[in-house]
Amino acid sequence: MNAGANNRVTVALGARSYAIAIADGLLDTAMDSLADYAGRDRMIVVTDENVAKLQLPRLTETAGAAGVTLHPIILPPGEATKNWIQLETLTDQLLALGVERGDHIVALGGGVIGDLTGFAAAIVKRGCGFVQIPTTLLAQVDSSVGGKTAINSRAGKNLIGAFHQPGFVLIDPSVLDTLPPRELRAGYAEVVKYGLIDDADFFAWCEAHGADLLAGDRAAQTEAIRRSVTAKARIVAEDETERSGRRALLNLGHTFGHALEAETGFSDALLHGEAVAAGICLAFAYSARRDLCSAADAERVAAHFSDAGLPNGLAAAGVQTDGATLTAHMMHDKKMEGGTLPFLLARGIGETFLARDVDLSDVAAFLDEVD
Ligand code: NAD
Ligand code: GLY
Repeated sequence: MNAGANNRVTVALGARSYAIAIADGLLDTAMDSLADYAGRDRMIVVTDENVAKLQLPRLTETAGAAGVTLHPIILPPGEATKNWIQLETLTDQLLALGVERGDHIVALGGGVIGDLTGFAAAIVKRGCGFVQIPTTLLAQVDSSVGGKTAINSRAGKNLIGAFHQPGFVLIDPSVLDTLPPRELRAGYAEVVKYGLIDDADFFAWCEAHGADLLAGDRAAQTEAIRRSVTAKARIVAEDETERSGRRALLNLGHTFGHALEAETGFSDALLHGEAVAAGICLAFAYSARRDLCSAADAERVAAHFSDAGLPNGLAAAGVQTDGATLTAHMMHDKKMEGGTLPFLLARGIGETFLARDVDLSDVAAFLDEVD
């Protein structure tokens, strides 16, 4: 892959370590890279209908010259695709194509395609290789790295899944040129999250350069992706399967956010990244209410998300529900431990920690008080 040394990040997991390559134009040379990496003259690429129109041609048009026969599998776009029916459709098609354990199924798309394809790769023939080529900012900075794969079930989001690491991740920021601005902003919430977790300098960088990134500045986008995946790779290497509490830090804003998503029906009314932005602001506001962090830090975080065009609270997220209803959604969280819910709270910007002493009735009272 033609990414400079500065734009290569390793996820250090012993024998399962893998590289993340980041560079403009990587998609146009990906068929060569994939053929070299996989040692195969045919590749199966899973994508969705939107990405098939806008980005898949960059692979199909270069496959022949790379000596590769491409087998695209094109699924409907949207969160609903992460379901049992599409998993069955996908695994049937993979088996019909004679997929082998040594194959590396390519996931070309956003988090939906990455999560579904990764899970299919984890279970078909008890585990095949797969490669992530993320095409949304959210997938580039978060979901393509770390090996969390899943589908949704009637009981909730991402409840059926497996840890299954990709063999490598190829990130071409130029694909963001076709991404709708609202999806770009939603992915940006996950960028800001890394600064707020444990890197106050990166949050300050976001304040200085976030507007450029959202306006399409490639250097700013590439730097944000590089810093985000470097942070994610470090945290995943420390706690791959979220046992020690380290990886749980990546869920900053997600418990509040999940309640907002549940309340809005996991629909386009509130995208995942938008819910995360509002959820992070609520986590900081709740931390300030408990005197864990300063009100000034909570206000600074809310101001940045608002400047970025992201919701920074309940009203901005379009949710007017009472606190008890919202905390009831939180009870279905995967992180529930012995009937209590660990919460990501903050002592300040870049100082997130896992709190195990949060009383859900206190959270409900807080949600009744705030906008
Ligand atoms: P998505 O995959 O639905 O993509 C959003 C939309 O953008 C879709 O309509 C898609 O077709 C379109 N799209 C994708 N790339 C495009 C491009 N380059 N140009 C134009 N359109 C493009 O959504 P997402 O926000 O990428 O991912 C959300 C999913 O990720 C959720 O299911 C969430 O649970 C999951 N997720 C997983 C992890 C993880 O660690 N595995 C982390 C965060 C989120
Ligand atoms: N996006 C949360 C994680 O990968 O752990």
